[in-house]
Amino acid sequence: MKKKIEDINKELDSFAPSNPDEVEQFRINMLGKKGQITLLLSDFRDVPSEEKKEIGQLINLLKNKAIDLIESSKISFKNSSSKGETIDLSLQQEIIEMGSRHPISLIKNELFTIFQKLGFSLSEGPEIEDDWHVFSALNFPKEHPARDMQDTFFIEKSPDILLRTHTSSVQVRTMESQKLPIRVICPGRVFRNEAISARAHCIFHQVEGLYIDKGVSFADLKQTLLFFSRELFGHDTNIRLRPSFFPFTEPSAEMDVSCKLCGGKGCSVCKHTGWLEILGCGMVDPTVLELNNIDSKQYSGYAFGMGLERIAMLKYGVKDLRLYFENDIRFLNIFKNYL
Ligand code: PHE
Repeated sequence: MKKKIEDINKELDSFAPSNPDEVEQFRINMLGKKGQITLLLSDFRDVPSEEKKEIGQLINLLKNKAIDLIESSKISFKNSSSKGETIDLSLQQEIIEMGSRHPISLIKNELFTIFQKLGFSLSEGPEIEDDWHVFSALNFPKEHPARDMQDTFFIEKSPDILLRTHTSSVQVRTMESQKLPIRVICPGRVFRNEAISARAHCIFHQVEGLYIDKGVSFADLKQTLLFFSRELFGHDTNIRLRPSFFPFTEPSAEMDVSCKLCGGKGCSVCKHTGWLEILGCGMVDPTVLELNNIDSKQYSGYAFGMGLERIAMLKYGVKDLRLYFENDIRFLNIFKNYL
């Protein structure tokens, strides 16, 4: 019996499991139903009574030693396997991909900041509009081509419900709802039935401005546009106004800025003219003031409107309008460092 106990003790001493399965095997081999220590205990009955005390103590020590060994082995395997799941301080932190602002949002924010300095506030309106706000209140004659299906997306006919073709509709809504004087800029999406190409799209963004007060003159308009152009494109920028026509302004003009790329000398971007057209403007036609219940004898105003895609093209050197709408991550990434 003593010999057996010694042998098992040696086995316990040399126990060096390399995985949890081996620990379990060892447990069965020692303490299972037919385990070596379990059998020792059943053999204990046959031990002569004078040896019982000594042998009993030895077997108990052996049993407790085996239990301790098995438990401690189990714990050490548990700890080592969970170590990998907890904190590894040498691991590199997961890189968080930052997004970027869309160039159209960047330009919109920049324009808003510039016009805010001049006391303009923001005004927004619906994209789905009626004929009155997009055309009639702005003095568009009934036969004007912009009212044609070719140019305008109609949703319903008579009464006409349509997608706004410019944000001048917001100016009408502002005249309806706000007290004079009015000084607002109206950014937003507009829709025109045009074939999609590098230079045109059926959806684009505008910012339009409206200022109505007593004694507003064309000189105020020109000074405002000069200030705006220099803030946006740099302080050496020049502007020029060319006579034009819009149903809602009289006189009307189109404004060019001096080409930044060639400094006005002429290049392929400005088609060798040294100038780039960026907006339409003019004095609000008295008829429009009257249509919107504003006394044109007391009040006058100016308005202007520009396409944001075009401004962003000039400012960021974007050559194809379609890029703004495709949301290609490679294009958007270019604007990561702009705020
Ligand atoms: N609404 C005009 C357009 O969409 C732009 C404009 C606004 C022109 C205000 C003059 C005055 O083209």
